[in-house]
Amino acid sequence: MAGSPHVLRNREVWDGMSEWYQAKHGPQLNTRPLAWGMWAIPEAEIGALGDVSGKVVLELGCGGGQWSMFLAEAGARPVGLDLSEQQLSAARGLMRTPYPLVHADAEQLPFRDASFDVVLSDHGAMIWADPYATVPEVARVLRPGGRLAFNAGTPWVCACDAGNDAPLSERLVNPYFGLHRVDEGDGAATFILGYGDWIRLLRRCGLDIENHIELRPPEDASSAYEPFASLEWARRWPLEAIWVATKAVTPLNG
Ligand SMILES: C[S@@+](CC[C@H](N)C(=O)[O-])C[C@H]1O[C@@H](n2cnc3c(N)ncnc32)[C@H](O)[C@@H]1O
Repeated sequence: MAGSPHVLRNREVWDGMSEWYQAKHGPQLNTRPLAWGMWAIPEAEIGALGDVSGKVVLELGCGGGQWSMFLAEAGARPVGLDLSEQQLSAARGLMRTPYPLVHADAEQLPFRDASFDVVLSDHGAMIWADPYATVPEVARVLRPGGRLAFNAGTPWVCACDAGNDAPLSERLVNPYFGLHRVDEGDGAATFILGYGDWIRLLRRCGLDIENHIELRPPEDASSAYEPFASLEWARRWPLEAIWVATKAVTPLNG
């Protein structure tokens, strides 16, 4: 598979850590249906996707395919796409209701224009690939009126991440301006934009922003992703947030 250097490296990293990741996080991901992010907050409370029954949904960076698996069982028509063969193999192992899995790079989607009603990513390829490449691709494969919903860490996390796997700081320790690529130490790269950059990118690609949902876990939440993100921190500041945008019927300019 051709791809930019960060894509090829991220593929190696995910192939290498898939087994560990599914063993550590599978117990949460596999048992909390249709739930967003590190605190598994139910879509039924959030309403980012809307009614998905019968809809063709692309999960971008599906990993073990837990969202797609539960979406298939809920009557949607998901397609799981991932860069890592090992992650796709985990998805194949978990699958109960059959749905297609596609081995591809989210920066170069192998689909025709206007193929999907919904594109979904929960800490998937919308953060593990460059949004300046993925957002135009997402806009291209969405049908007019189709919806993009993706969950990602917020700029607050970047500003408060002191590194070395330390728990998130309660002080701003990194700059906000200039957010784009984050080198993860093991050679992997993730991507994050500031709020204004997200707004301009989505609008430039013809996506109307409908909502920005900052996820606040309930007081009694538990997560397999602690201690990087403690419940106390996540109850005080937005750790993750979902952008919801709809493909305009007539594309907007700038
Ligand atoms: C954290 S997992 C997301 C899956 C699931 N929602 C979860 O939380 O475990 C991130 C996934 O993104 C995939 N990924 C990374 N870069 C990608 C790219 N360029 N195209 C498609 N998938 C990619 C990785 O292989 C990995 O399976």
